[in-house]
Amino acid sequence: MTPDLLEDGAQRLARTQDPASSGSTESGGRQAGFSRRLVPGQVDTTHGRILYLEDVHVSFDGFKAINGLSLDIAPGELRCIIGPNGAGKTTMMDIITGKTRPDRGTVFFGSTIDLLRHREAEIAQMGIGRKFQKPTVFEQLSVFENLELALKTDKRVAASMRFRLDSAQADRLAEVLHTIHLSDDVRRQAGNLSHGQKQWLEIGMLLMQDPLLLLLDEPVAGMTDEETARTAELFLSLKGKHSLMVVEHDMAFVKAISDIVTVLCDGAVLAQGPLEQVQADERVIEVYLGR
Ligand SMILES: Nc1ncnc2c1ncn2[C@@H]1O[C@H](COP(=O)(O)OP(=O)(O)OP(=O)(O)O)[C@@H](O)[C@H]1O
Ligand SMILES: [Mg+2]
Repeated sequence: MTPDLLEDGAQRLARTQDPASSGSTESGGRQAGFSRRLVPGQVDTTHGRILYLEDVHVSFDGFKAINGLSLDIAPGELRCIIGPNGAGKTTMMDIITGKTRPDRGTVFFGSTIDLLRHREAEIAQMGIGRKFQKPTVFEQLSVFENLELALKTDKRVAASMRFRLDSAQADRLAEVLHTIHLSDDVRRQAGNLSHGQKQWLEIGMLLMQDPLLLLLDEPVAGMTDEETARTAELFLSLKGKHSLMVVEHDMAFVKAISDIVTVLCDGAVLAQGPLEQVQADERVIEVYLGR
């Protein structure tokens, strides 16, 4: 997808949001087509891309952490991102999720949503879920309560007390429990779960919101081999239903799940392709795999 198409999409979206220009929409002012893209959880991927970054730059005190990064991801894709420490992988996720503002560049969700114009909370609501490396579940609550909490938009205590799952939400909760292999642990206190189970629970909390795109930063760090293998199965089961961007140093895990692998180095893409191809790339061996 070219920036022209993105620009075109953004302009059309802006027109649908601007009542003054509603008479000049392509649908003759009927506001038909493009307004649907404003519904949370929906995004226009007709150009074949759910995420599009072009020539993104970020400096921290003069240090170029992201330096001309361009990357795109197709709907339903599971993309692995590898690269040495300090390559800019986490910073890239910070930019996509609105935590860090780039100095310049283009970051689009689908072809119409300019992520640089939205705040972190809005981006999450639009359907981009993020998992940080350290599990952040509520240790005192049960598995069930953690998943239930993930559905609550109003997290103030009084509102939470009134909250009741409707039947669709209850079905979703059961489905997510099954997906994350915690159906038998639903009443257990989250603090008593293994490290791997806590990671799955946190992924489950993201899944409760049915995100279109999931960003996962080093999800198998600290897991046993068995937990890692189950996480690979889990991610493969999510592929297609969700788009996933997975940053990981564990190459056995990357091998188990990867389709296309992107290698980041010095804040830009060094190489990209099937794992065997990037593993054979001299530049990749030199900066990363040959360590
Ligand atoms: N908020 C910040 N302020 C200053 N420097 C930062 C900030 N965030 C990141 N950096 C620097 O930017 C570079 C990229 O960091 P980043 O955390 O994105 O790397 P990474 O590829 O995720 O590495 P790792 O594999 O170790 O997690 C590093 O040199 C880091 O020190
Ligand atoms: Mg990192």
